[in-house]
Amino acid sequence: MPRLLPPSDDNVAQAAAELARGGLVAFPTETVYGLGADTFQPAAIEKIFALKGRPLDNPLIAHVLDADSARRVAGEWDDRAARLARRFWPGPLTIVVPRGPDVPEQATAGWPTIAVRAPSHPVARALLAAFGGPISAPSANRSGGVSPTTAAHVAEDFPDADDLVILDGGPCAVGIESTVVDLTGVVPSVLRPGAVTVAELRRVLGEVGITLATGQAHAPGTSEAHYAPRTPAELVARKALPDRLRGPGGPFVVLCFEGTRVPPGQSAIVLPADPARCAARLYAALREADRAGAARILIEEPPEGSGLWVAVRDRLRRAVS
Ligand code: TXA
Ligand code: MG
Repeated sequence: MPRLLPPSDDNVAQAAAELARGGLVAFPTETVYGLGADTFQPAAIEKIFALKGRPLDNPLIAHVLDADSARRVAGEWDDRAARLARRFWPGPLTIVVPRGPDVPEQATAGWPTIAVRAPSHPVARALLAAFGGPISAPSANRSGGVSPTTAAHVAEDFPDADDLVILDGGPCAVGIESTVVDLTGVVPSVLRPGAVTVAELRRVLGEVGITLATGQAHAPGTSEAHYAPRTPAELVARKALPDRLRGPGGPFVVLCFEGTRVPPGQSAIVLPADPARCAARLYAALREADRAGAARILIEEPPEGSGLWVAVRDRLRRAVS
């Protein structure tokens, strides 16, 4: 089993030393837990891909303390990037810019661009400060699976990784991955919706496009099947739920929103009706649904709505694809 450590100064220093030695460290961010390695050590980066079973063409986010450290990995840091960083960092926004000349190819899976983010979680920041350089980290889950929002989720996904250190910073407050905005095209484009909304980005950047799942596995940021539980899952409209529950494919476990009636005796997991609280709870709920021993997970369609609901709908749509 991996080692779960409380984030004391000593343990953070030990984790930073592990990164310097070319090892992996899982750490909390405000969005989800990350599986980190030194951006500048190709062999360490390769360990991330191997442990996650991640496709070798899917690039990683480099985590940094601030815009100054972002410049070190960026080939270009223009005024738009600077404005975004001033407005949203530290926080759940990832900015894609041209890759800097010193960054090893492995850190961006060969792509000429790099995604950078300054997380706000105090433990992530303490680790970045102690390590003193950028940390490349995808979400700390098996590739394609549900992202981890607790240290225990990380351990559950990598039970055989005896060398893996996990800094335990408690549950993640945001609960879904960062918004990814790509500045390398003619018009800035959101590749993955998150807690920083398109409307907020438009207030800083003006025109912003949206490039969501393309179905092409090789377009970074947009892979279709993702965030998926192991149990087959399907989205069902609230009105259709009673009928669907009488239909084929059970036994079911239902993931529904507060206020939705499910028949007595039906196993159900309830999600908050408030979007921020729903996002924070979403991945733990999907993992619970996976453990419920059902043949199929029926997920109530999330409400229409803007802001975080866009991100929640995006993740659930991918979870069932
Ligand atoms: O909130 C988050 O972003 C978390 C925490 C740990 O920071 N990280 C995370 O990483 O979700 P990951 O690897 O699971 O998702 C990163 C997404 C992927 O969809 C990847 O394809 C995309 O960002 N991405 C990374 N580098 C990119 C690049 N150079 N161009 C376009 N998309 C990129
Ligand atoms: Mg991920």
